[in-house]
Amino acid sequence: KPPILVPELAARLGLKPFNVMADLIKLGVFPAPNQPLEPEIAAKVCEIHGFSFEREKRDKDKGFHKVEEVIKEPEAPAEEPEELLKTRPPIITIMGHVDHGKTSLLDYLRKTRITAGEAGGITQHIGAYQVKHQDQLLTFLDTPGHAIFSDMRARGADITDIVVIVVAANDGIMPQTKEAIQHAKKANKTIIVAINKIDLSSANVERVKTQLAENGLQTTDYGGDTEFAEVSALTGKGMDDLLDLMILQAEVLELKANPKATARASVIEARVVPGRGTTATVIVESGTLKVGTPFICGPYAGKIRSMINDRGETIKTAPPGSPVEVIGFEELPHVGDHLTEMKNEREAKSLASERQEEQRLKRLRPQHRNRMEDLYSMV
Ligand code: GTP
Ligand code: MG
Repeated sequence: KPPILVPELAARLGLKPFNVMADLIKLGVFPAPNQPLEPEIAAKVCEIHGFSFEREKRDKDKGFHKVEEVIKEPEAPAEEPEELLKTRPPIITIMGHVDHGKTSLLDYLRKTRITAGEAGGITQHIGAYQVKHQDQLLTFLDTPGHAIFSDMRARGADITDIVVIVVAANDGIMPQTKEAIQHAKKANKTIIVAINKIDLSSANVERVKTQLAENGLQTTDYGGDTEFAEVSALTGKGMDDLLDLMILQAEVLELKANPKATARASVIEARVVPGRGTTATVIVESGTLKVGTPFICGPYAGKIRSMINDRGETIKTAPPGSPVEVIGFEELPHVGDHLTEMKNEREAKSLASERQEEQRLKRLRPQHRNRMEDLYSMV
């Protein structure tokens, strides 16, 4: 049988020889250049990278081991076949300055009272909810208006189709309104403005429109292309107009997804809930999440143990566009991580350990460089 050499093994695994050397060192093996590897050692290296090691039956070509499988995260196809695509709910993110009525607006639409339960009436996290209006499902993300939650708004703008900017008509445009406009524009999102609190005697809708124009959002009644609605989350005035606008804009965007595709979701929040363990709220982007599905999320494997919808009900499946709390993470995922369905748990775990290894090496590298720099500075 031909010898197993580092450069050839590396090439078979799609790696550079130094990657394989790093693995060998971790395994406590320090081969001299051109020293053949023991098959068991080669097998271990293959395993680290999700390959299985197998010597070829015949020594034809230069080959010495056969690649049986490569484990990769299933990639989203560039384009799904038209006939498999189904209309999905729009993902609408509510943004705006603190206390301008974002949560109240959602409460009105959902006929709930989340605002009442919030500490100090301030939203601290991204809440995800679904509303049905004239048989149309709309998915909403509520964001906090407080200045310190800027990165949350940036993230919110990212996974969104439509941004609703809430401006209280008595206050007008404030710092976090401006910031929300910038996030939405930067992310190239469709923007709808909800001019809220029009029930107040101190409301000044015209002033808000002037300020909007100054910030690059000229409303349609002033010859611009920014759709807007004048509303009161308290009395419900204008709320139907706002809903109509959102549905219209969603139709214009022709939002579609394949519910039969490999399931893929985006993490918008993750936390440890006493009694439930690690959970994350995700928005399904394509495919359908099902209880029992093995997945990879960032560098961690997992398996969907259970799912809870925005009304606190346990559900078995979650179609595209739906927000859902997933239980079954090995470790706390990061916001923005993608949860992707894997064929089986073994592949999910194998890919996870490969990613953790990559992360570990990445963490080691800068230290190493520092040490080299130290060396140079000494000479
Ligand atoms: P953060 O989450 O802290 O950024 O605030 P928010 O934008 O979610 O505001 P929230 O919905 O908590 O409302 C703030 C206050 O404004 C509450 O006391 C609401 O009752 C009040 N409010 C909201 N909408 C209206 C409205 O249309 N009219 C009047 N009069 N008050 C409103
Ligand atoms: Mg709020």
